[in-house]
Amino acid sequence: MQTYSLIAPAKINLYLEILGDRPDGYHELAMILQSIDLADQIDLRSNGTDQIRVSCDDPQIPTDSSNLAYKAAALMANQFAEMYRKFGGVDISLHKRIPMGAGLAGGSADAAAVLVGMNLMWKLGLTQTELRELAAQLGSDIPFCISGGTALATGRGEQLAPLPSVDFLYAVLAKHRNVGISTPWAYKTYRQQFSGSYVSDQDSLLQRQQRVHSGGIVSAIGQRDGAKIGQLLHNDLEKVVLPTYPQVERLRQTLGEFDTLGVMMSGSGSTVFALVESKAQAEQVRLQLKAALPDPNLDIWTTRLIANGIRLAH
Ligand code: C5P
Repeated sequence: MQTYSLIAPAKINLYLEILGDRPDGYHELAMILQSIDLADQIDLRSNGTDQIRVSCDDPQIPTDSSNLAYKAAALMANQFAEMYRKFGGVDISLHKRIPMGAGLAGGSADAAAVLVGMNLMWKLGLTQTELRELAAQLGSDIPFCISGGTALATGRGEQLAPLPSVDFLYAVLAKHRNVGISTPWAYKTYRQQFSGSYVSDQDSLLQRQQRVHSGGIVSAIGQRDGAKIGQLLHNDLEKVVLPTYPQVERLRQTLGEFDTLGVMMSGSGSTVFALVESKAQAEQVRLQLKAALPDPNLDIWTTRLIANGIRLAH
């Protein structure tokens, strides 16, 4: 049986605005999501049993049914029971490069890769739209991870409108290995502190979504204006994460002192990124940060913004 190897890119949030509450307990969001070339590799192989088995080169990551990659395979087995009977279970091998608890959608990217890979392995012929619909059942960021690139995401994050590519830009990412942030905690805390500013009727919600759609950062992306994109980076979750995690706050402040286009936390953290114009500038910022914060627990990556989501490795 053939092995399918897939590359699953991480994402950063160029923009994250929390608009209101949803009846399903989630939040109405307006985000700009961006794929980067920091990626996991996922190998899939039919195993001739009736089991889904996950292995991972990072011992910290659970390989049981709580892993999103496992859940993605279970969803496919459930939705396409005839194929599951015909081909049997699947071995999923995760080669992790994207850190956990980082706001980079690492688990979501792996799950997206399993959906794309099983679509190929079982020759289902599902379209990107159909794959994204399945993905939305597993998590809010997973539909984006399928097609990737640059996109405006609304609703829970699963309603996607593609934006022009900004793959001429680079980002320096930094994260303390010992600081992971729970996404449910971040949203819950935001609700406790800021629900007074939530919009509650459909008209106001549409208006707020429209404001982002026709707003500054979307037009800066259209104009390929890196400097303006950098100035307009935004993330509402910084308001709850930075006061609670002084290490993240310090990281953001330190990166902010260097010559970059802009600095922001990604998702619910704990990754902070600096947007830069070139690979050389990314390398310079990496060295400056390493010198300013010589902490053995601080991981730094220089990455390029990319225009694609899940792809075959070869
Ligand atoms: O959908 P996903 O499992 O990735 O979401 C993780 C958590 O983040 C949810 O359980 C919820 O607490 C929060 N969340 C939210 N509103 C969203 C997306 C996520 O409140 N639109």
